[in-house]
Amino acid sequence: MPDSSSPIYLDNAATSFPKPPEVAEAMHRLLREISLSPGRSAHRFSLAASRVIFETRERLAEFFGCQNSSRVVFTSNVTEALNVGIFGLLTPGDQVLTTGMEHNSVMRPLRHLEKTKGIRLSFLPTSAIGTIDPDDIPRRLSAKTRLIIINHLSNVTGAVADLAAIGNRKGEALLMVDAAQSAGVFPLDMEEMGIDFLAFTGHKGLFGPTGTGGFLLREELMLPPLTMGGTGSNSEQEEQPQGMPDCHESGTPNTLGIGGLAAGLEFIRQTGRETIRRHEEHLTSLLLDGLSQIKGLTVYGPPVGAGRGSVVSLTMAGRSVADLAFLLDRHYGIMARGGLHCAPAAHRSIGTFPQGTLRFSPGFFNTEAEIQAVLAALDQISSGS
Ligand SMILES: Cc1ncc(COP(=O)(O)O)c(C=O)c1O
Repeated sequence: MPDSSSPIYLDNAATSFPKPPEVAEAMHRLLREISLSPGRSAHRFSLAASRVIFETRERLAEFFGCQNSSRVVFTSNVTEALNVGIFGLLTPGDQVLTTGMEHNSVMRPLRHLEKTKGIRLSFLPTSAIGTIDPDDIPRRLSAKTRLIIINHLSNVTGAVADLAAIGNRKGEALLMVDAAQSAGVFPLDMEEMGIDFLAFTGHKGLFGPTGTGGFLLREELMLPPLTMGGTGSNSEQEEQPQGMPDCHESGTPNTLGIGGLAAGLEFIRQTGRETIRRHEEHLTSLLLDGLSQIKGLTVYGPPVGAGRGSVVSLTMAGRSVADLAFLLDRHYGIMARGGLHCAPAAHRSIGTFPQGTLRFSPGFFNTEAEIQAVLAALDQISSGS
């Protein structure tokens, strides 16, 4: 039995762990050296905090292929970003084209608007392995389709959507992308891919701390803020300022977290996004190969390669996924996630609702030895030895 005293973390799709040491160091330095309230005062600490925010915004704009960093808005996670976009861009009578692979951070606001504002939803067909075909888009568009919402990398199957092909087929609709799982690992370029609204979270593949995330909004588009209040700008006015990004950033921002996110982005720049992707792909491939040798498992999702990220879902005959996750943690020191992963629609699409799946999500800091330990543990559990 593997040594459970050195736990193996394979839940990077929930949040990446560990973070690069540079992230903790950057945050520690910020806490020690400056007060963290930007844009509210003219003293040196406030200016230093403003610089942290500005420089991170610039980095994110460059990272996601956006020309103008004032189109980058910070939120506390991708859920908040998606809510701002969905509530702000849709009006009664609009239609939305989306997929059966969306997370509840998309499905819940959409279902709410369907009920309360008469938004009409239509869904692209999903294959048994959780993929969509961009060629299905044009015939499902109508003059009323305001938004196409796509999960770039499924947190259930690992399937990666071909955003460039989707962007080419979007017609007059706006393309909103949930990049929660892909940002930092797969290429994302707003200009090249025709993305109008890109939502990201900071604490997964971008290696930032929890409490960070945001969205990038294509030039010319405006949407109303969900929150209003002090922005440190236009303080003489009692109305919310109109300009981006201030109109969406009320209240003291998470300067500490945003500083950590900048360090995460710098780690990716120095390591190379493609190096990270290749390492994760190698571990995923190793895992999938090994799983195919273990009796009683059903593994979901597409084959490894450009169309698959580092997320592997499975079920085991005769064992509940909750039981499996518990056993792995308690007896083998392996942290995986069992259940619906906040994406019941995706499980309906691949036939694993309501039990869900056991999910492994290797990250950049996992090793081949850890994957071998997972395979040995699953083999032992499945053979009952
Ligand atoms: C595809 C997808 N969208 C949205 C989210 C929500 O992320 P957050 O909790 O950071 O808002 C997740 C997180 O698991 C996700 O996997």
